[in-house]
Amino acid sequence: MREGTIPKPSATRKRVGILISGRGSNMMSLVEATQSPDYPAEVVLVVSNRPEAPGLAWAKSRGIPAIALDHKGYRSREEFDDQIDRLMKVSGVDIIACAGFMRLMTPGLVENWRNRMINIHPSLLPSFKGLNTHERALAAGVRISGCTVHAVRHEVDTGPILGQAAVPVRGDDTPETLAARVLAAEHKLYPEVLKQLASGQISIDGDTVAFKDSFINNSVIFSPAIC
Ligand code: GRF
Repeated sequence: MREGTIPKPSATRKRVGILISGRGSNMMSLVEATQSPDYPAEVVLVVSNRPEAPGLAWAKSRGIPAIALDHKGYRSREEFDDQIDRLMKVSGVDIIACAGFMRLMTPGLVENWRNRMINIHPSLLPSFKGLNTHERALAAGVRISGCTVHAVRHEVDTGPILGQAAVPVRGDDTPETLAARVLAAEHKLYPEVLKQLASGQISIDGDTVAFKDSFINNSVIFSPAIC
């Protein structure tokens, strides 16, 4: 935090719990964003279903309560999800942000957090749900790809869309180069959408999303670029 800045009182900041399974670069971008004194949310808990997830150690090193909840230690998906639910509630979490969390969730958990649990996916949904997104985007020959932040529903990678960012696809892209370009966009989009959700600029009523000040500008993305 910059010297002389007054942090927003935490009573007015939404409390965010983050679910990860691995690297955690999106979690890091959310944590970094919340360091800004006027950001309307704070990260109060990080949970990983994989104890060895590098993101977990990073969160701990930043003083954020970080818990390994190994799904292999639970008899059923329900028991595991109940424990996530409990941990989030005990920590007073308002919004759960999934950031590379690689577990299917039970309808119970999804319903308990309906419109209070969000996810980031590395494609322009509803295209390319699921795994191997970039391989499939390249195979389909799309010229523009991107990422989506959405409210979580039981069916994987579905739910009201809260924000999207688009990137061009280059002729010589590989899944790795496209993934890197999309990931850089994810790191900007996710903190922005969380900020707008936490401040009430974005709201979800049932399955309908309302944008108070919307992100409207008139730019059009061309790929290939227009010279
Ligand atoms: C990201 O591409 C995210 O969109 C997807 O899984 C990846 C997680 O990366 N759901 P990281 O763990 O946030 O670095």
